[in-house]
Amino acid sequence: MKTIKIGMLGIGNIGKGTYRTLEMSRAKIEQANGLTIEIVKILNRHPEIDRGIDIPKEKYVTDAYEIINDPEIDIVIELIGGIEPATTYMADALKAGKHVVTANKAALAANGRMLQELAYKNQLMLRFEASVAGGIPILNAISTALISNEFSEVQGILNGTTNYILTQMTEQGTPYEEVLKEAQRKGFAEADPTADVEGIDAANKLSILISLLFGIGVAPEKIPTKGITSVSREDISFAREFGYRIKLLASANCADGKVTCNVEPSLVAETHPLANVNNEFNAVYITGNAVDNLMFYGRGAGPLPTGSAVIGDVVDVARKIEKGSAYDLLPHLRYDADLQFAGEGANQYYIRLTAADHPGVLGQITSTFGVYGIGIRTMMQRAGDNSGKAVPMIFIVYDIEKSILTTALNVLVNNGSVESIDNVLRVLKS
Ligand code: HSE
Repeated sequence: MKTIKIGMLGIGNIGKGTYRTLEMSRAKIEQANGLTIEIVKILNRHPEIDRGIDIPKEKYVTDAYEIINDPEIDIVIELIGGIEPATTYMADALKAGKHVVTANKAALAANGRMLQELAYKNQLMLRFEASVAGGIPILNAISTALISNEFSEVQGILNGTTNYILTQMTEQGTPYEEVLKEAQRKGFAEADPTADVEGIDAANKLSILISLLFGIGVAPEKIPTKGITSVSREDISFAREFGYRIKLLASANCADGKVTCNVEPSLVAETHPLANVNNEFNAVYITGNAVDNLMFYGRGAGPLPTGSAVIGDVVDVARKIEKGSAYDLLPHLRYDADLQFAGEGANQYYIRLTAADHPGVLGQITSTFGVYGIGIRTMMQRAGDNSGKAVPMIFIVYDIEKSILTTALNVLVNNGSVESIDNVLRVLKS
């Protein structure tokens, strides 16, 4: 039986999950494919640390280039995370004739084009299913079973940490800071949760999805991105009164030759399937012209779900090596479509503001909205006591460009019509 040799860069949680997934599936893989996959070397910069996993010590190396330059190794799995040195290691592995499998969304979103070109030039495979939504096989599905579709929309819950936090805030009423600490204790949230809570992780994943679905490159830093730190229990409770849940959505649309996108906490109607994706789960909801609406749901993070996606890629690459047809690029990042990136586009918005409870105040707000072409879909004012004390008001407005809405809201604050704008969140149309 042919043995495909693997070198793995990284033995953190995902590295251990990948190793365990391979051990769990070894017999099945051998039986179904007639080949053995063996992880022969693992980059472990600190072999003295007890990793809590039974791996023969002789597999460990402390220099990545002992793997990258090893002529015996067929596939390099990159699980270090972060843009560098991971990108350099992957590029050097491709230059050295190794196929590469990675879970690294930050490196892919930043340097996917260069890495893919290197793979193409060297007739090697670059696989990255685990980089978006962990165990959910969305990238392969887009590039294979769904290949006949022109896609018009994607709405994703792509970050488990933030979905867990928002779910707990909604269901238990726990404040943000407390849930974050609990998520860190349970191991969902990183010690430095910035990339998750500020939406950066979701923007990286959305950038990869946009390339696969629509065929253009939108760098993550170009995606209008707002994290969940501004979402308060008041917002969650008002959203519920209007029949919505708040979710951190990574959204992109393609229409009339333009792609618009954003990552933003968004009000999702309780009747929409995404509203019921809770805790650390992820979901990707896409619309194709043949398949119509389709939702993928599952675990987007964690050692075994991510390991499942990594080993899926490894086995597919190994099968192709074994058959002697080792070259393909599926899933394939695309940058060839005749489309323009048009920023955030027009969306419905929820606005929470505080205004004095005086005759004429509501008139000033609605007149200013009228001047800027902002139509009110629904609104509510919390009952006051006729003392003139400020009260919260909620507006949900029809489609409008965020920049126009921001100008109108600044006018209202500057002319004293409202005391404060407390939050503005996108509303997903359904
Ligand atoms: N930190 C990510 C999440 C998992 O919370 O979903 C890795 O992509």
